[in-house]
Amino acid sequence: MGIKVLKTCTELQSHVRKLKSANNTIGMVPTMGALHAGHLSLVKYAIEVTDETIVTIFVNPTQFAEGEDLDKYPKTFEADLEKLAYLNVPTVFAPSNDEMYPPGCSTRIVPADVSRPLEGEFRPTHFGGVVTIVLKLLNLTGADKAFFGQKDFQQVMVVKQMVADLNLATEIVACPIVRESDGLALSSRNVYLSKDERVRSLALRKTLGHFKKMISLGERDAQALMSEMQQMLIDNGVSSIDYAVVANPNSLQAYDQIEFPVVALIAARVGATRLIDNCLIESG
Ligand code: PAJ
Repeated sequence: MGIKVLKTCTELQSHVRKLKSANNTIGMVPTMGALHAGHLSLVKYAIEVTDETIVTIFVNPTQFAEGEDLDKYPKTFEADLEKLAYLNVPTVFAPSNDEMYPPGCSTRIVPADVSRPLEGEFRPTHFGGVVTIVLKLLNLTGADKAFFGQKDFQQVMVVKQMVADLNLATEIVACPIVRESDGLALSSRNVYLSKDERVRSLALRKTLGHFKKMISLGERDAQALMSEMQQMLIDNGVSSIDYAVVANPNSLQAYDQIEFPVVALIAARVGATRLIDNCLIESG
């Protein structure tokens, strides 16, 4: 059986009705396409733990602000389908903009408070777009479980809070970060990096490695950790830093003195490309 590509909400809803009436559990993996091994790790996990996996491919315009990379966001649809077919994914939902946001579609979800710091500060409209599309996709697929990457640490928190606040039945499953062999976190945006920028992009994982080491050596002063992280990012060639912070991973609140668990989160530009990465430490 070949992979089934559904383009309309009506087709998807009727497919889901059939799956549900046969008592299948449904796993959803939402993506914006340009699939890499990070996305595919979520897909593999979904296939393992649910009966029927639905992968969605939709470059969601409402989560991009004016001047961001919506128009040049990489599109590799045929290659994406091949990768998914290789994993035996049965169904892909790939709607058009008009299908997801037809004329008059103007309801928007306000994301939880945890969306405000960090990404929310630098991309103030981003998470509103994310939770709006994720809620629409959860409603359409009726997913029992939906799979997200820890690479987008704050996104997982914001989606989990939406699910709790709106009493949705879907379980949100967070999956580990997949990296290149040299440590760069896989991202669809890595294709923007020139050869020189690709080398400088390692600043993020080097800095997170240093953070881990300083914690293991007993450093507990959050300010000292953050100053070292900033310096290390600059020394290793990032062009600008949006944030490089350590925080409580359950609230994103800053620590004065580090307690556990702790997460370090970085967003920085290398050339014009904005990269994010993070490192979670559960215990000391
Ligand atoms: P996208 O950037 O395509 O990512 C889709 C999913 O793949 C997200 O859950 C993301 O965290 C995960 N992912 C990306 N890189 C990863 C890596 N290196 N390791 C593990 N997981 C990784 O995130 C989005 O799309 C959108 O905001 C979306 C949720 C689809 C809503 O439009």
